[in-house]
Amino acid sequence: MATEYEIKKQICEIGKRIYNRGMVASNDGNISVKLNDNEFLCTPTGVSKGFMTPEYICKVDAQGKVIQAYDGFKPSSEIKMHMRVYKERPDVNAVVHAHPVYATSFAIAGIPLTEPIMPEAVIALGCVPIAEYGTPSTEEIPDAVSKYLQYFDAVLLENHGALAFSDSLLNAYHKMESVEFYAQLLYQAKMLGGPKHLSEAQVQRLYEIRRAFGMKGKHPADLCPNNKQGKPSCHSCGGNCSGNCHGSSAEEDIIAQITKNVLAQLGK
Ligand code: 13P
Repeated sequence: MATEYEIKKQICEIGKRIYNRGMVASNDGNISVKLNDNEFLCTPTGVSKGFMTPEYICKVDAQGKVIQAYDGFKPSSEIKMHMRVYKERPDVNAVVHAHPVYATSFAIAGIPLTEPIMPEAVIALGCVPIAEYGTPSTEEIPDAVSKYLQYFDAVLLENHGALAFSDSLLNAYHKMESVEFYAQLLYQAKMLGGPKHLSEAQVQRLYEIRRAFGMKGKHPADLCPNNKQGKPSCHSCGGNCSGNCHGSSAEEDIIAQITKNVLAQLGK
């Protein structure tokens, strides 16, 4: 089990990676890690995430209130967005927010990543919806993101960037890398005349592989009731699903809503 100091060092390391890979400019982006139900580490606001040392990292409670921060450092202005993910996804232990160029370009163009173009993206992500625009630092982004949390492990933030979350910091960072790689490939394939899509049967086989591997997290392969019933799902709904491909009467939607209500009643 890593010590708190080691986790702070890991956050700095991931900060360097997102900065050095051009996934953020200047002081953009933020990272958090769950220590337990009441304690979370997060990057401070207004600093370059590429040049942090462990002393920069703040500790907050489940409401995003400061438990510990060194002089001159305050938690990320987007801490509410991170806390909403932890509240509604108890399986998540780390959240990464960045502005990678290709993924953010799709978020700005209003185009979700729903085209089945390569096996790894289909297996790792399924598809990536766009959460409606919200003003940074307000409850608008957490509210917009909430709708997608029971179905996906990554979302684009309209006219803003991308958000990825997983059971570990490394996996959350890898999710962000996968989103950006998928977006870049899709963009470049479009420049070359348009991607050739995997067929519905090929997508279904990849979904089966994901299920057989018992991969963690949320994914349309496990959750999309339309997909399970052989109806159009993310990869064949023409890119307009925006999370709605789940069908309001579907069993999974009801389960997701019950899970949310129970967590809310437990005060989580
Ligand atoms: P913070 O520095 O406050 O985390 O904000 C950076 C950012 O990218 C906001 O979207």
